[in-house]
Amino acid sequence: MPVPSVPDRSPCAASGHPSFHYRGGELYCEDVAVAALVARFGSPLYAYSAAAITDRYATVRSAFGADAHVCYAVKANSNLSLLRHLDALGAGFDLVSGGELARLQAAGISAGQAVFAGVAKEPWEIEAALAAGIMLFNVESPHEIELLAAAGRARGVRVPVALRLNPDVDANTHAHLTTARKDVKFGVDLARAGTVVERITSDPYLQLRGYHVHLGSQLRAIEPWLAAFDRVAAFMAADPRRREGVQWYDLGGGFGIAYGQGEPLDVGALAAQLLPRIVAHGLRPIVEPGRYLIGDAGMLVTAVSGRKVGGATAFLLVDAAMNDLLRPALYQAEHPMAPVRATDAASEIVDVVGPVCETGDFLARKRALPALQRGDLLAVFGAGAYGSAMASNYNTRPRPGEVLVDGERVRLIRRRQRLEQLWEDEQEPA
Ligand code: LLP
Repeated sequence: MPVPSVPDRSPCAASGHPSFHYRGGELYCEDVAVAALVARFGSPLYAYSAAAITDRYATVRSAFGADAHVCYAVKANSNLSLLRHLDALGAGFDLVSGGELARLQAAGISAGQAVFAGVAKEPWEIEAALAAGIMLFNVESPHEIELLAAAGRARGVRVPVALRLNPDVDANTHAHLTTARKDVKFGVDLARAGTVVERITSDPYLQLRGYHVHLGSQLRAIEPWLAAFDRVAAFMAADPRRREGVQWYDLGGGFGIAYGQGEPLDVGALAAQLLPRIVAHGLRPIVEPGRYLIGDAGMLVTAVSGRKVGGATAFLLVDAAMNDLLRPALYQAEHPMAPVRATDAASEIVDVVGPVCETGDFLARKRALPALQRGDLLAVFGAGAYGSAMASNYNTRPRPGEVLVDGERVRLIRRRQRLEQLWEDEQEPA
């Protein structure tokens, strides 16, 4: 019997997950050559690894245990096929808009395992979520409580709510990504929360089921979660009414990934340190990771258009831009990159820029990369979360296609937009 040849697999140091690796010098996503994906679906292209999502979900699930409710934060990437994959794994969902709820329903997923957050939900969103049998509303603004109570009264039901608290804890992350400091719009600060709890618990159409804290995004340290829980525990202990019927502690999302530098958040260590405190208070945890589940599972592949030099700066011009992946321009985020075909070319320092007419249109600045030429493909890693989800049509650029790879199987989960789609809602009525 011939021995099947085992392809040489070598890790791709830049990528955040072994689903992305080299075989014979070619970058693969699971069992599919990335160059073959681009040949079939064009460039730029988002490609996701189903195995990587499964893997990350298993890490979170095993860290927090069977008693935890793991909700995928849909905002990170709301593609219907990815939602279905997470649903099949057993995930619940964290929603922030009626639009996300409608997506969940379009994917054929029940809202019974979903929590609905957001700083100012509108009555139509509350109605839709109640009709869908939402598990929990995370409320965080006083007027929402009035809207929820009115909706409960109209339907004759008790609306399950968790109160989002703002414990004023520094998440040590980018200023745009910190959400539980004083003077940000999120949550109710602890000094004001007592009155809000009294309002909720005195209403026959509301039931206080939990507390919610989301500290921010891309956290790598555990201490902020511990500090936040301790403050919430002290808040609960101050008045027995604050604990009546309360079952959940929703510690939010924000689990950080490595983006090629340092270590991701140690989710096992977070659970090991935080869970005993939650359990000691007779509560069950909800977690809402988005980035951690999907970030490293996705890459953006882009083709090199050309090269140029301006002043002392060498530019690598690529066909993806800030409209496809906004994070570098918006947060100065650094996404690791690697050539799709491994090369011995000497490394050079370049700004990787797209064709959009803005100086802020860059995917990387002062990045060491092997010298690439027109037609070469470049992989941008860590792009699964807040990549496609934040993409736009700026410069009348159609959004890229997206594929989900599962072993050797490839599914187109979002067609590349056609140009005509970009103005179809602008036609004057005949
Ligand atoms: N729960 C709540 C209430 C949130 O506001 C968020 C994110 C999450 C969960 C999920 O956070 P994650 O686990 O994905 O970090 N566009 C930014 C991230 C904004 C996150 C907003 N809220 C970025 O590209 O880094």
